[in-house]
Amino acid sequence: MSKTILRGRTLTFVEKPTGADDTSSYRYEEDGALLIEGGRIATSGDFASVSAEAGDAEIIDHRPHLILPGLIDAHAHFPQMQIIASYGAELLEWLNSYTFPEERKFADPDHATRIAGRYMDELIRHGTTTAVTYCSVHPQSADAYFEAAAARDMLMIGGKCLMDRNAPDGLRDTPQSGYDDTKALIEKWHRKGRAHYAITPRFAITSTPQQMEISQVLVAEFPGCFMQTHLAENHAEIELTKQLFPDCADYTDVYAHYGLLGERSLFGHCIHLSDREADALSESGSVAVFCPTSNLFLGSGLFNFHRLNEREKPVRTAIATDTGGGTNYSMLRTLDEGYKVIALQGKKLPPIHGYYEMTLGNARALSLEDRIGTLDAGSDADITVLNSRATPIMDLRMETIETLAEELFLLQVLGDDRAVAEVYVAGVAVKGGV
Ligand code: GUN
Ligand code: ZN
Repeated sequence: MSKTILRGRTLTFVEKPTGADDTSSYRYEEDGALLIEGGRIATSGDFASVSAEAGDAEIIDHRPHLILPGLIDAHAHFPQMQIIASYGAELLEWLNSYTFPEERKFADPDHATRIAGRYMDELIRHGTTTAVTYCSVHPQSADAYFEAAAARDMLMIGGKCLMDRNAPDGLRDTPQSGYDDTKALIEKWHRKGRAHYAITPRFAITSTPQQMEISQVLVAEFPGCFMQTHLAENHAEIELTKQLFPDCADYTDVYAHYGLLGERSLFGHCIHLSDREADALSESGSVAVFCPTSNLFLGSGLFNFHRLNEREKPVRTAIATDTGGGTNYSMLRTLDEGYKVIALQGKKLPPIHGYYEMTLGNARALSLEDRIGTLDAGSDADITVLNSRATPIMDLRMETIETLAEELFLLQVLGDDRAVAEVYVAGVAVKGGV
């Protein structure tokens, strides 16, 4: 088996930082190294000890760059690549005017295949090695997605949308066809290679009560799968949901009523939640996904990261791009906008905490921290190498940077795909294209 050593400044997290100076939450090696063998990290530590252990391994020297676990995006929509940057609408109008017409194109397997390939390549270019993605309603879009991920050996999570009402012709399934197609896709893809399936009732507005029941059946039948949907993103969306499910106490209760809360359940947005709803998410171990660029772009509101994380009953959170409601594929750009959303609420997110969120934090939200999100021995070798001097502006600013925290913040504020020097997926260098 071939052995490779990556040498550089390594940074990985062991715990959620409790503050800006919590040096025990991470491990940083100025002259660090990873030994990669068989697509996994066999050893990590300082270069001298890793190379002593590795014998005749090939050495790839990334100094002075930073070597991090591959970044993780916890919520996105791959069929929206060609409507990112669509002007001037709030959520429901944006869905009806841009999103739904676009997603109809994914009935064509050739189109789905082309866009799925472009999607994976964009993720890699931006340093993201795992994403949780909504496909369109068409099962062929999920096939295209998982085929593109498998061709690149990426650990990707996704599923076809279940949506049987309030959507145009060509973009609806039925409770029965949604069940049959989802079950067939799970049997075909879930845990095949690195793929994971997410049962995907798009949101309560586009599923009839019968289809919500079907989602419940699927979640009960396949407890190893994820469940993803949207929750409390926009005021008009919340009002319409209450009209459609008048017997439920609130929006969260709709999902609770159909047994969809749980530790593998990911709820996009969660901006406008009552205390009761936050309690319900907390008690069930559900995850609220913070999508800052999308929430700003669609004018949806400010996700209250500190309230959810620091309340007596904390809610698990993750961070995500939500492309194409979100405006950038880069998790660095996403973190930067997240910092600003939090600042608008009078709080601060220290850089080390932000980098924890994009790596180990998101891996924990997906219960995948034994595979991804760290540089620990035994992890899959999904790795992102960042160059803090990637642009003239970054290079100039680096002249005055003195600490790791300052450097991470510079990368967050000024960095994007240009700062991604290399990406490894299962131990293979892929930024140059596969
Ligand atoms: N709610 C239901 N579908 C979507 C979607 O595609 N994007 C966003 N931002 N919210 C949604
Ligand atoms: Zn979404």
